[in-house]
Amino acid sequence: MFDLSDRVALVTGAGQGIGAGIARQLAAQGATVAVNDLVLDRAKATAAEILEAGGRAHAISFDVTDYASIVSGVEEIAAELGAVDILVNNAGVPEKMGMAPFRETTPADWVRVIDINLYGVLNCSRAVIDGMCDRGFGRVITISSGAGTAGVGIGVSAYGAGKGGGLGFMRNLALEVARKGVTANSLALGLMNNVPSEILPAIEKSIPVGRAGQPDEVGACCVYLASDEAGWMTGQTIQLNGGSVTT
Ligand SMILES: NC(=O)c1ccc[n+]([C@@H]2O[C@H](COP(=O)([O-])OP(=O)(O)OC[C@H]3O[C@@H](n4cnc5c(N)ncnc54)[C@H](O)[C@@H]3O)[C@@H](O)[C@H]2O)c1
Repeated sequence: MFDLSDRVALVTGAGQGIGAGIARQLAAQGATVAVNDLVLDRAKATAAEILEAGGRAHAISFDVTDYASIVSGVEEIAAELGAVDILVNNAGVPEKMGMAPFRETTPADWVRVIDINLYGVLNCSRAVIDGMCDRGFGRVITISSGAGTAGVGIGVSAYGAGKGGGLGFMRNLALEVARKGVTANSLALGLMNNVPSEILPAIEKSIPVGRAGQPDEVGACCVYLASDEAGWMTGQTIQLNGGSVTT
């Protein structure tokens, strides 16, 4: 089960953190992984780690908010690795994203978090969806956040708006492509172990399982969603959070 040997995956923002964990896990199940990041050296580092572990990977840099460069990137992936079967929309944290109460922010602060989390997801999905539908197989997975499904009260209101927008898009996309063999699902993550170490212990106390999540645990969930076996799972938002939110 969960064999991805014949699949090509594109993971955005995979040069570090959660995206790197997703790329590693997809590769461990046999997928050939296009490792995207805005910062090419980060993408290269994740791709090198996968190659060293015996997997297949290719580093590629583009900005998920720039549609034209995504289309070129997807063409490059098709030429180097093959057509994209699995897209993981993971990029969602712009450089130096701060946290602040909404009343202390300005429109300029909102643009970057909305751009990456809403238009980034639309852009990358649009660039691969026709090919997936034409070939009769595709998996679109968007990495969202508890801040997209509920209020979290930590100064991330605009980010939550972007994350929530992405979730609404994914639910609607799922229905449009359901008869084409293409699924679209989202993961709403709780707090992960790559948050700043000074706030980690306090956060971990509030998580029912007693610890933050690990990137490879997100990767394991993506392996399932990307698999042939997950063909009946679509249009869903899965809460992956150590029990912080239960539904
Ligand atoms: N870390 C958490 O606690 C947490 C919690 C909930 C959800 N998430 C979500 O998980 C995802 C990954 O978060 P992370 O903590 O691993 O982030 P991170 O900041 O560690 O890594 C993000 C990567 O994305 C790249 N990137 C930034 N802008 C980009 C762009 N425009 N195009 C392409 N790449 C870009 C960066 O260079 C970086 O390598 C995000 O969608 C985030 O919102 C994270």
